[in-house]
Amino acid sequence: MSRAVCPGTFDPVTHGHLDVVTRAARLFDEVVVAVGVNPSKNRLFSDDERIAMLERACADLANVRVIGFTGLLTDVCSEQDAQALIKGLRGPGDYEYEAQMAGMNARQTGVDTVFLPTDPRWSFVASSLVKEVAGLGGDVRGLVPDFVLEMLTARLAERAADRAADPAG
Ligand code: PNS
Repeated sequence: MSRAVCPGTFDPVTHGHLDVVTRAARLFDEVVVAVGVNPSKNRLFSDDERIAMLERACADLANVRVIGFTGLLTDVCSEQDAQALIKGLRGPGDYEYEAQMAGMNARQTGVDTVFLPTDPRWSFVASSLVKEVAGLGGDVRGLVPDFVLEMLTARLAERAADRAADPAG
């Protein structure tokens, strides 16, 4: 059985991520979406929220499972008995960084990295930019699933209300 791990922070998940997961699910018998969870890191969405988000977004993909992970990705691949890591590449900038990680990961356990070129429709989409634009009142409709947009809008409104109540905090 071929199995691949598709890792990320997914804060929040975008259509770019989901396009890569969907295409990976056609190439492998099973895809494990591994959501990086690290309580010390400052995310817009909690670990549980991001895992639940991915589960909902991937609910129609029968051969996709979602897990949370901490520590080394290569350990996750060993635990999951996965032969490959999946990474989406938006362009040369992504490649430089990802190629270095692919080399390091291969050296750890021999796990190979499969790069999927991002669909041009999503080549400019990054979770960080989606948060920034939405936080400044811009339009990010169509870049994330509708239910994620609702969660994002609600969370940003909560954060804005917190800031208004405690400008120094
Ligand atoms: O969506 P992101 O933020 O680009 O995902 C980053 C992620 C989770 C893939 C990366 O932080 C990672 O690989 N974390 C696991 C730690 C690890 O294995 N580090 C060694 C990399 S060579």
